[in-house]
Amino acid sequence: MEAKEDLLVVDRLKTQFFTYGGVVEALDEVSFEIEKGEIFGLVGESGCGKSVTATSILGLVSKPGRVISGRILLDGEDLLRKSEREMNSIRGSRIAMIFQDPTSSLNPLFRIGYQVAEPYIHHQRRAKRKALSDATGILAKTGLPDADEKARNYPHELSGGMRQRAMIAMSLTCEPDLLIADEPTTNLDVTIGRQILDLVKDLQREFGASVLWITHDMAVVAQMCDRVGVMYAGSIVEKTDVRTLFRNAKHPYTERLLRAIPSAATSSDRLEEIPGSVPRLIHPPTGCRFHPRCDYAAPVCSETKPLEREVDPGHWVACHRFSGPKDGT
Ligand SMILES: Nc1ncnc2c1ncn2[C@@H]1O[C@H](COP(=O)(O)OP(=O)(O)O)[C@@H](O)[C@H]1O
Ligand code: SF4
Ligand SMILES: [Mg+2]
Repeated sequence: MEAKEDLLVVDRLKTQFFTYGGVVEALDEVSFEIEKGEIFGLVGESGCGKSVTATSILGLVSKPGRVISGRILLDGEDLLRKSEREMNSIRGSRIAMIFQDPTSSLNPLFRIGYQVAEPYIHHQRRAKRKALSDATGILAKTGLPDADEKARNYPHELSGGMRQRAMIAMSLTCEPDLLIADEPTTNLDVTIGRQILDLVKDLQREFGASVLWITHDMAVVAQMCDRVGVMYAGSIVEKTDVRTLFRNAKHPYTERLLRAIPSAATSSDRLEEIPGSVPRLIHPPTGCRFHPRCDYAAPVCSETKPLEREVDPGHWVACHRFSGPKDGT
């Protein structure tokens, strides 16, 4: 069997925001890898550090934030050592992104078709007419109705769902090695959201990119991802393949998240609330950041941060309950 190769390695990434109110410890040594051609999910409640992980990788952490330490290796090269100029060229050629709000990636002054065709013209040096017709083809592939006509429109002439499709088309024409998707379907209605998920998955298979898929929704994880990291208050607490996550989750927080999914078996749509709220990350809880909300918290939990431990091959858990010498209970 062919050995799997990592495209992206995020190693003990620490990102903080230096605000007047204090230091926000947003990422506390986050580590994960994404293999070539794999869809890796990052899931967790709002405020746990998913978007900061994405902006850290992209070199776009907003002020007053900064990556403090760690490594971000893309094909073995540390992105944290790249200049602003180098990062600029990496974004939009090797790494593409799709966000919740497509307006931030679309330029209001240029026609949709031209914006989608741009990587063909500038990176691949296709003739303009050819690039435009190829771009229209990609737009049609994203399910944009009347792609020919829409390609001649400006962003404001399209609906939110259509702009989202245009942004996806843009992210694909640059043929990225890595696509980062930060909750791109959150503002869309359910049907369109599901179409977009299917679309990205189909296109990902066709183009073979690796994907970092960010969501707060376990159902989306189940539909999209190969492997997943569960984030809580700035740390990855559990990391495994999706099958194992749904059948054999170990971390108390993951258990809670899974219980919070509305079950198709029960007729009610009620979500089980997770008691307590996500801690603010200025002076976060000591030891395990989940201890104030955890049913299993022991004295050690508020004293020492649990290290990630491989409880089964490829299944990592950061919890003192699983820190014994290779037990698995
Ligand atoms: N510009 C900023 N200034 C201060 N704190 C920030 C800033 N951006 C994000 N944070 C903090 O970083 C933490 C993680 O945020 P974020 O990554 O946006 O969460 P998520 O995407 O998981 O909802 C939060 O506590 C948030 O308040
Ligand atoms: S380390 Fe302790 S507080 Fe944290 S999840 Fe495990 S049992 Fe709960
Ligand atoms: Mg976010």
